[in-house]
Amino acid sequence: MDYDVKDLTLADEGKRRILWADGDMPVLQAIRERFENEKPFSGKKMSACLHVTAETANLLRTLKAGGADIYLCASNPLSTQDDVAASLVRDFGIPVFAIKGENRDVYYRHIEKCVAHQPVVTMDDGADLVSDIHAKHSEMAGQILGSMEETTTGVIRLRAMERDGALKFPVIAVNDAATKNLFDNRYGTGQSTIDGIVRATDVLIAGKIFVVSGYGWCGKGFAMRAKGMGAKVVVTEVEPIPALEAAMDGFWVMPMEEAAGIGDVFVTLTGDIHVLRPEHFAKMKDGAIIANSGHFNVEIDIPGLEKMAKEINRGIRNFVDQYVLPNGRRIRLLADGRLVNLSAAEGHPASVMDMSFATQCLTSEWVVKNSEKLEAKVYKVPKEIEDWIATLKLKSMGIGIDELTEEQKDYLSSWTMGT
Ligand code: ADE
Repeated sequence: MDYDVKDLTLADEGKRRILWADGDMPVLQAIRERFENEKPFSGKKMSACLHVTAETANLLRTLKAGGADIYLCASNPLSTQDDVAASLVRDFGIPVFAIKGENRDVYYRHIEKCVAHQPVVTMDDGADLVSDIHAKHSEMAGQILGSMEETTTGVIRLRAMERDGALKFPVIAVNDAATKNLFDNRYGTGQSTIDGIVRATDVLIAGKIFVVSGYGWCGKGFAMRAKGMGAKVVVTEVEPIPALEAAMDGFWVMPMEEAAGIGDVFVTLTGDIHVLRPEHFAKMKDGAIIANSGHFNVEIDIPGLEKMAKEINRGIRNFVDQYVLPNGRRIRLLADGRLVNLSAAEGHPASVMDMSFATQCLTSEWVVKNSEKLEAKVYKVPKEIEDWIATLKLKSMGIGIDELTEEQKDYLSSWTMGT
Protein backbone atom coordinates (compact mmCIF):
# COMPACT_ATOMS: atom_id res chain seq x y z
CA MET A 1 0.00 0.00 0.00
CA ASP A 2 1.28 3.46 -0.93
CA TYR A 3 1.33 6.01 1.92
CA ASP A 4 3.44 8.77 3.45
CA VAL A 5 3.05 9.35 7.19
CA LYS A 6 5.52 10.38 9.88
CA ASP A 7 5.98 7.19 11.85
CA LEU A 8 3.93 3.98 11.90
CA THR A 9 5.00 3.26 15.48
CA LEU A 10 2.66 6.08 16.57
CA ALA A 11 -0.30 3.98 15.45
CA ASP A 12 -1.22 2.53 18.88
CA GLU A 13 -1.88 5.99 20.31
CA GLY A 14 -3.66 7.03 17.10
CA LYS A 15 -5.98 4.03 17.31
CA ARG A 16 -6.87 4.78 20.93
CA ARG A 17 -7.74 8.36 19.99
CA ILE A 18 -9.77 7.33 16.93
CA LEU A 19 -11.85 4.89 18.97
CA TRP A 20 -12.33 7.43 21.78
CA ALA A 21 -13.61 9.99 19.26
CA ASP A 22 -15.88 7.38 17.69
CA GLY A 23 -17.66 7.00 21.03
CA ASP A 24 -18.87 10.59 20.61
CA MET A 25 -19.98 10.13 17.00
CA PRO A 26 -23.23 8.14 17.25
CA VAL A 27 -24.77 9.46 14.03
CA LEU A 28 -21.70 8.50 12.03
CA GLN A 29 -21.74 5.08 13.69
CA ALA A 30 -25.35 4.51 12.62
CA ILE A 31 -24.46 5.48 9.05
CA ARG A 32 -21.42 3.17 9.11
CA GLU A 33 -23.61 0.24 10.13
CA ARG A 34 -26.00 0.88 7.25
CA PHE A 35 -23.15 1.46 4.78
CA GLU A 36 -21.60 -1.87 5.79
CA ASN A 37 -24.76 -3.64 4.62
CA GLU A 38 -25.68 -1.49 1.63
CA LYS A 39 -22.23 -0.61 0.21
CA PRO A 40 -23.36 2.57 -1.60
CA PHE A 41 -19.81 3.31 -2.82
CA SER A 42 -18.98 -0.18 -4.01
CA GLY A 43 -16.23 -0.01 -6.64
CA LYS A 44 -15.95 3.78 -6.38
CA LYS A 45 -12.60 5.51 -6.01
CA MET A 46 -12.69 8.50 -3.67
CA SER A 47 -10.05 11.02 -2.58
CA ALA A 48 -10.35 13.27 0.45
CA CYS A 49 -8.29 16.35 1.28
CA LEU A 50 -9.21 17.01 4.92
CA HIS A 51 -7.64 17.80 8.28
CA VAL A 52 -6.19 14.45 9.34
CA THR A 53 -7.71 14.11 12.80
CA ALA A 54 -9.30 11.35 14.88
CA GLU A 55 -12.73 12.56 13.72
CA THR A 56 -11.71 12.47 10.07
CA ALA A 57 -10.43 8.94 10.63
CA ASN A 58 -13.94 7.90 11.63
CA LEU A 59 -15.37 9.55 8.54
CA LEU A 60 -12.89 7.64 6.36
CA ARG A 61 -13.72 4.37 8.13
CA THR A 62 -17.39 5.01 7.36
CA LEU A 63 -16.79 5.71 3.66
CA LYS A 64 -14.59 2.63 3.43
CA ALA A 65 -17.31 0.56 5.16
CA GLY A 66 -19.58 1.78 2.36
CA GLY A 67 -17.28 0.18 -0.20
CA ALA A 68 -15.20 3.23 -1.18
CA ASP A 69 -11.60 2.78 -2.26
CA ILE A 70 -10.40 5.94 -0.55
CA TYR A 71 -7.17 7.98 -0.28
CA LEU A 72 -6.59 10.82 2.21
CA CYS A 73 -4.25 13.81 2.19
CA ALA A 74 -4.02 16.83 4.50
CA SER A 75 -5.93 20.04 3.84
CA ASN A 76 -3.47 22.07 5.90
CA PRO A 77 0.27 21.47 6.52
CA LEU A 78 -0.04 21.92 10.30
CA SER A 79 -3.30 20.18 11.20
CA THR A 80 -2.27 16.54 10.76
CA GLN A 81 -2.34 14.30 13.82
CA ASP A 82 0.59 12.00 13.01
CA ASP A 83 -0.60 9.23 15.33
CA VAL A 84 -3.99 9.15 13.62
CA ALA A 85 -2.36 9.11 10.16
CA ALA A 86 -0.25 6.13 11.26
CA SER A 87 -3.22 4.20 12.62
CA LEU A 88 -5.33 4.82 9.51
CA VAL A 89 -2.58 3.18 7.49
CA ARG A 90 -1.69 0.33 9.85
CA ASP A 91 -5.03 -0.51 11.47
CA PHE A 92 -7.62 0.55 8.93
CA GLY A 93 -5.79 -0.03 5.63
CA ILE A 94 -6.39 3.49 4.34
CA PRO A 95 -3.62 5.15 2.28
CA VAL A 96 -2.76 8.48 3.96
CA PHE A 97 -0.40 11.17 2.68
CA ALA A 98 0.09 13.70 5.47
CA ILE A 99 2.81 14.72 7.92
CA LYS A 100 2.38 17.49 10.48
CA GLY A 101 4.62 20.43 9.54
CA GLU A 102 5.14 19.29 5.93
CA ASN A 103 6.44 22.04 3.66
CA ARG A 104 4.59 23.44 0.67
CA ASP A 105 6.22 21.05 -1.80
CA VAL A 106 5.37 17.98 0.24
CA TYR A 107 1.85 19.31 0.85
CA TYR A 108 1.21 19.57 -2.90
CA ARG A 109 2.99 16.27 -3.61
CA HIS A 110 0.53 14.64 -1.21
CA ILE A 111 -2.41 16.23 -3.00
CA GLU A 112 -1.01 14.85 -6.27
CA LYS A 113 -1.10 11.35 -4.74
CA CYS A 114 -4.83 11.78 -4.16
CA VAL A 115 -5.27 13.01 -7.73
CA ALA A 116 -3.25 10.10 -9.16
CA HIS A 117 -5.67 7.75 -7.39
CA GLN A 118 -8.15 8.78 -10.15
CA PRO A 119 -11.13 9.43 -7.87
CA VAL A 120 -14.71 9.73 -9.10
CA VAL A 121 -15.84 11.41 -5.88
CA THR A 122 -13.74 13.98 -4.01
CA MET A 123 -14.02 15.66 -0.64
CA ASP A 124 -12.28 18.91 0.23
CA ASP A 125 -11.75 21.25 3.16
CA GLY A 126 -10.66 24.51 1.53
CA ALA A 127 -10.99 23.43 -2.14
CA ASP A 128 -7.28 22.68 -2.70
CA LEU A 129 -7.98 19.26 -4.27
CA VAL A 130 -10.71 20.58 -6.58
CA SER A 131 -8.52 23.56 -7.53
CA ASP A 132 -5.58 21.27 -8.28
CA ILE A 133 -7.73 19.06 -10.54
CA HIS A 134 -9.07 22.12 -12.38
CA ALA A 135 -5.64 23.74 -12.74
CA LYS A 136 -3.44 20.76 -13.54
CA HIS A 137 -5.63 17.76 -14.44
CA SER A 138 -8.65 19.18 -16.20
CA GLU A 139 -8.84 16.03 -18.36
CA MET A 140 -10.11 14.27 -15.21
CA ALA A 141 -13.03 16.64 -14.69
CA GLY A 142 -15.42 14.50 -16.73
CA GLN A 143 -14.99 11.48 -14.49
CA ILE A 144 -15.82 13.32 -11.23
CA LEU A 145 -19.42 12.63 -10.21
CA GLY A 146 -19.24 15.31 -7.53
CA SER A 147 -17.19 16.87 -4.79
CA MET A 148 -18.13 17.77 -1.22
CA GLU A 149 -16.78 21.01 0.29
CA GLU A 150 -16.44 21.24 4.07
CA THR A 151 -15.56 24.84 4.80
CA THR A 152 -16.67 28.46 4.27
CA THR A 153 -13.45 29.49 2.51
CA GLY A 154 -13.72 26.57 0.10
CA VAL A 155 -17.34 27.38 -0.73
CA ILE A 156 -16.35 31.01 -1.45
CA ARG A 157 -13.67 29.78 -3.90
CA LEU A 158 -16.07 27.34 -5.58
CA ARG A 159 -18.83 29.91 -5.99
CA ALA A 160 -16.27 32.25 -7.60
CA MET A 161 -15.37 29.43 -10.03
CA GLU A 162 -19.08 28.83 -10.77
CA ARG A 163 -19.64 32.56 -11.37
CA ASP A 164 -16.71 32.71 -13.82
CA GLY A 165 -17.95 29.61 -15.68
CA ALA A 166 -14.76 27.79 -14.62
CA LEU A 167 -16.34 25.02 -12.53
CA LYS A 168 -16.16 21.69 -14.37
CA PHE A 169 -18.10 19.29 -12.15
CA PRO A 170 -20.83 19.39 -9.47
CA VAL A 171 -19.86 20.41 -5.96
CA ILE A 172 -21.99 20.30 -2.85
CA ALA A 173 -21.59 23.04 -0.25
CA VAL A 174 -21.63 20.81 2.84
CA ASN A 175 -20.43 23.84 4.83
CA ASP A 176 -23.70 25.61 4.14
CA ALA A 177 -25.87 22.85 5.62
CA ALA A 178 -27.45 23.83 8.93
CA THR A 179 -26.23 20.52 10.38
CA LYS A 180 -22.71 21.78 9.65
CA ASN A 181 -22.37 25.50 10.12
CA LEU A 182 -24.80 26.09 13.01
CA PHE A 183 -22.92 23.56 15.11
CA ASP A 184 -19.40 22.94 13.81
CA ASN A 185 -18.66 26.55 12.81
CA ARG A 186 -20.30 28.01 15.90
CA TYR A 187 -19.79 25.63 18.84
CA GLY A 188 -16.84 23.74 17.33
CA THR A 189 -14.79 26.80 16.38
CA GLY A 190 -15.85 28.60 19.54
CA GLN A 191 -14.48 25.91 21.82
CA SER A 192 -11.50 24.67 19.80
CA THR A 193 -10.13 28.16 19.14
CA ILE A 194 -10.13 28.90 22.86
CA ASP A 195 -8.47 25.51 23.35
CA GLY A 196 -5.71 26.27 20.79
CA ILE A 197 -4.94 29.69 22.27
CA VAL A 198 -4.84 28.38 25.82
CA ARG A 199 -2.67 25.36 24.95
CA ALA A 200 -0.24 27.58 23.03
CA THR A 201 0.03 30.41 25.57
CA ASP A 202 -1.60 29.41 28.89
CA VAL A 203 -3.14 32.89 28.84
CA LEU A 204 -5.81 33.74 31.43
CA ILE A 205 -8.90 34.74 29.48
CA ALA A 206 -10.77 36.46 32.33
CA GLY A 207 -10.30 40.22 32.21
CA LYS A 208 -8.46 40.28 28.86
CA ILE A 209 -9.62 42.25 25.84
CA PHE A 210 -10.23 39.88 22.92
CA VAL A 211 -10.57 41.36 19.44
CA VAL A 212 -12.57 39.04 17.16
CA SER A 213 -12.47 39.79 13.43
CA GLY A 214 -15.45 38.48 11.51
CA TYR A 215 -18.93 37.82 12.90
CA GLY A 216 -19.99 34.86 10.78
CA TRP A 217 -20.84 31.60 12.57
CA CYS A 218 -17.19 31.01 13.51
CA GLY A 219 -16.68 34.52 14.86
CA LYS A 220 -20.00 34.35 16.72
CA GLY A 221 -19.08 31.08 18.36
CA PHE A 222 -15.66 32.30 19.40
CA ALA A 223 -16.88 35.69 20.68
CA MET A 224 -19.57 33.94 22.72
CA ARG A 225 -17.10 31.53 24.35
CA ALA A 226 -14.50 34.25 25.05
CA LYS A 227 -17.19 36.36 26.71
CA GLY A 228 -18.36 33.35 28.69
CA MET A 229 -14.86 32.94 30.11
CA GLY A 230 -14.69 36.54 31.26
CA ALA A 231 -13.02 38.34 28.35
CA LYS A 232 -14.14 41.77 27.26
CA VAL A 233 -14.86 41.24 23.58
CA VAL A 234 -14.50 43.65 20.67
CA VAL A 235 -15.81 42.62 17.24
CA THR A 236 -14.54 44.06 13.95
CA GLU A 237 -16.58 43.61 10.77
CA VAL A 238 -16.86 44.93 7.21
CA GLU A 239 -20.54 44.05 6.72
CA PRO A 240 -23.19 46.25 8.36
CA ILE A 241 -25.69 43.50 9.28
CA PRO A 242 -23.34 41.22 11.23
CA ALA A 243 -21.76 44.32 12.78
CA LEU A 244 -25.19 45.37 14.03
CA GLU A 245 -25.89 41.86 15.23
CA ALA A 246 -22.62 41.87 17.19
CA ALA A 247 -23.48 45.23 18.73
CA MET A 248 -26.92 43.96 19.80
CA ASP A 249 -25.40 40.73 21.10
CA GLY A 250 -23.59 43.00 23.54
CA PHE A 251 -20.11 43.28 22.00
CA TRP A 252 -18.15 46.43 21.33
CA VAL A 253 -17.91 46.99 17.57
CA MET A 254 -15.25 49.28 16.12
CA PRO A 255 -12.76 49.45 13.23
CA MET A 256 -9.51 47.53 13.63
CA GLU A 257 -7.76 50.87 13.49
CA GLU A 258 -9.16 51.56 16.99
CA ALA A 259 -9.24 47.99 18.29
CA ALA A 260 -5.53 47.43 17.51
CA GLY A 261 -4.43 49.68 20.36
CA ILE A 262 -6.62 48.15 23.06
CA GLY A 263 -6.64 44.39 22.40
CA ASP A 264 -4.69 41.77 24.33
CA VAL A 265 -5.60 38.83 22.07
CA PHE A 266 -6.57 39.16 18.39
CA VAL A 267 -8.24 36.36 16.45
CA THR A 268 -9.15 36.47 12.77
CA LEU A 269 -12.08 34.36 11.51
CA THR A 270 -13.00 36.10 8.26
CA GLY A 271 -11.89 34.02 5.23
CA ASP A 272 -10.25 37.16 3.86
CA ILE A 273 -6.70 38.37 3.37
CA HIS A 274 -4.61 40.77 5.54
CA VAL A 275 -7.19 41.56 8.18
CA LEU A 276 -4.31 42.32 10.54
CA ARG A 277 -1.56 44.27 8.82
CA PRO A 278 1.44 46.54 9.56
CA GLU A 279 -0.58 49.65 10.43
CA HIS A 280 -2.37 47.56 13.08
CA PHE A 281 0.78 45.84 14.42
CA ALA A 282 2.33 49.28 14.93
CA LYS A 283 -0.48 50.19 17.35
CA MET A 284 -0.57 46.97 19.37
CA LYS A 285 0.34 46.75 23.05
CA ASP A 286 3.46 44.99 24.25
CA GLY A 287 2.77 41.25 24.51
CA ALA A 288 -0.23 41.25 22.17
CA ILE A 289 -1.17 37.74 21.02
CA ILE A 290 -2.32 37.32 17.42
CA ALA A 291 -3.89 34.18 16.00
CA ASN A 292 -5.98 33.01 13.08
CA SER A 293 -8.85 30.53 13.04
CA GLY A 294 -9.88 31.04 9.41
CA HIS A 295 -8.93 28.41 6.83
CA PHE A 296 -5.84 29.96 5.19
CA ASN A 297 -2.79 31.59 6.78
CA VAL A 298 -3.35 34.85 4.90
CA GLU A 299 -5.63 36.64 7.37
CA ILE A 300 -2.59 37.99 9.22
CA ASP A 301 -0.03 39.73 7.01
CA ILE A 302 2.93 37.70 8.28
CA PRO A 303 5.39 38.86 5.59
CA GLY A 304 4.45 42.44 6.60
CA LEU A 305 5.09 41.61 10.26
CA GLU A 306 8.42 39.99 9.41
CA LYS A 307 9.49 43.05 7.46
CA MET A 308 8.63 45.38 10.35
CA ALA A 309 10.29 43.34 13.09
CA LYS A 310 13.76 44.23 14.29
CA GLU A 311 14.08 40.81 15.89
CA ILE A 312 12.23 37.49 15.63
CA ASN A 313 12.38 34.89 18.39
CA ARG A 314 10.99 31.66 17.02
CA GLY A 315 9.48 28.98 19.23
CA ILE A 316 9.51 30.86 22.56
CA ARG A 317 6.87 28.24 23.39
CA ASN A 318 5.42 25.54 21.14
CA PHE A 319 3.45 27.29 18.41
CA VAL A 320 4.53 30.79 19.53
CA ASP A 321 6.89 33.09 17.58
CA GLN A 322 7.73 36.50 19.01
CA TYR A 323 8.23 39.57 16.82
CA VAL A 324 9.98 42.53 18.41
CA LEU A 325 9.02 45.79 16.69
CA PRO A 326 11.25 48.87 16.36
CA ASN A 327 9.19 50.47 19.19
CA GLY A 328 10.35 47.62 21.45
CA ARG A 329 6.89 46.04 21.76
CA ARG A 330 6.61 42.27 21.40
CA ILE A 331 3.89 40.64 19.32
CA ARG A 332 3.27 36.92 19.71
CA LEU A 333 2.07 35.07 16.62
CA LEU A 334 0.49 31.66 17.17
CA ALA A 335 0.89 28.62 14.90
CA ASP A 336 2.43 30.53 11.96
CA GLY A 337 -0.95 32.16 11.44
CA ARG A 338 -2.46 28.80 10.50
CA LEU A 339 -5.70 27.53 12.01
CA VAL A 340 -4.84 27.78 15.70
CA ASN A 341 -7.51 25.31 16.77
CA LEU A 342 -6.15 22.51 14.60
CA SER A 343 -2.46 23.42 14.83
CA ALA A 344 -2.08 24.00 18.56
CA ALA A 345 -5.05 21.88 19.72
CA GLU A 346 -7.09 18.98 18.33
CA GLY A 347 -9.71 20.81 16.25
CA HIS A 348 -13.40 20.62 17.04
CA PRO A 349 -14.65 17.99 19.47
CA ALA A 350 -15.90 14.71 18.01
CA SER A 351 -19.47 15.27 19.09
CA VAL A 352 -19.85 18.25 16.76
CA MET A 353 -17.80 16.72 13.91
CA ASP A 354 -20.30 13.82 14.14
CA MET A 355 -22.89 16.05 12.48
CA SER A 356 -20.53 17.55 9.88
CA PHE A 357 -19.18 14.19 8.85
CA ALA A 358 -22.60 12.52 8.86
CA THR A 359 -23.57 15.29 6.43
CA GLN A 360 -20.48 14.50 4.32
CA CYS A 361 -21.36 10.78 4.18
CA LEU A 362 -25.02 11.16 3.28
CA THR A 363 -24.29 13.89 0.74
CA SER A 364 -21.65 11.69 -0.93
CA GLU A 365 -24.21 8.89 -1.14
CA TRP A 366 -26.74 11.33 -2.65
CA VAL A 367 -24.17 12.47 -5.23
CA VAL A 368 -23.44 8.91 -6.32
CA LYS A 369 -27.17 8.11 -6.59
CA ASN A 370 -28.05 11.32 -8.43
CA SER A 371 -24.94 11.92 -10.51
CA GLU A 372 -26.78 11.64 -13.83
CA LYS A 373 -28.92 14.64 -12.94
CA LEU A 374 -26.19 16.90 -11.55
CA GLU A 375 -24.52 19.71 -13.50
CA ALA A 376 -21.30 21.67 -12.97
CA LYS A 377 -22.83 23.86 -10.26
CA VAL A 378 -22.61 24.48 -6.53
CA TYR A 379 -25.47 22.56 -4.87
CA LYS A 380 -27.01 22.74 -1.42
CA VAL A 381 -27.27 19.68 0.81
CA PRO A 382 -30.81 18.25 0.44
CA LYS A 383 -33.04 19.25 3.36
CA GLU A 384 -34.09 15.61 4.09
CA ILE A 385 -30.45 14.81 4.87
CA GLU A 386 -30.22 17.67 7.35
CA ASP A 387 -33.50 16.71 9.05
CA TRP A 388 -32.47 13.08 9.35
CA ILE A 389 -29.14 13.97 10.94
CA ALA A 390 -30.66 16.48 13.38
CA THR A 391 -33.31 13.93 14.39
CA LEU A 392 -30.75 11.22 15.04
CA LYS A 393 -28.44 13.60 16.92
CA LEU A 394 -31.33 14.67 19.17
CA LYS A 395 -32.16 11.01 19.80
CA SER A 396 -28.55 10.27 20.71
CA MET A 397 -28.70 13.14 23.20
CA GLY A 398 -31.89 11.74 24.75
CA ILE A 399 -33.90 14.79 23.66
CA GLY A 400 -37.50 14.39 22.43
CA ILE A 401 -39.47 17.02 20.53
CA ASP A 402 -43.17 17.56 19.83
CA GLU A 403 -45.03 16.49 16.70
CA LEU A 404 -47.59 18.65 14.93
CA THR A 405 -51.21 17.67 15.56
CA GLU A 406 -53.48 17.23 12.51
CA GLU A 407 -55.15 20.51 13.45
CA GLN A 408 -51.78 22.30 13.53
CA LYS A 409 -50.77 20.82 10.17
CA ASP A 410 -54.02 22.09 8.65
CA TYR A 411 -53.48 25.51 10.20
CA LEU A 412 -49.93 25.80 8.83
CA SER A 413 -50.95 24.75 5.35
CA SER A 414 -54.05 26.93 5.05
CA TRP A 415 -54.33 30.62 4.28
CA THR A 416 -58.03 31.04 5.06
CA MET A 417 -57.85 30.90 8.87
CA GLY A 418 -57.32 34.34 10.39
CA THR A 419 -57.89 35.76 13.85
N1 ADE B 1 -12.17 20.97 11.35
C1 ADE B 1 -12.26 21.50 12.58
N2 ADE B 1 -12.10 20.57 13.52
C2 ADE B 1 -11.90 19.39 12.89
C3 ADE B 1 -11.69 18.07 13.35
N3 ADE B 1 -11.65 17.75 14.63
N4 ADE B 1 -11.52 17.13 12.40
C4 ADE B 1 -11.56 17.47 11.09
N5 ADE B 1 -11.77 18.68 10.61
C5 ADE B 1 -11.95 19.65 11.51
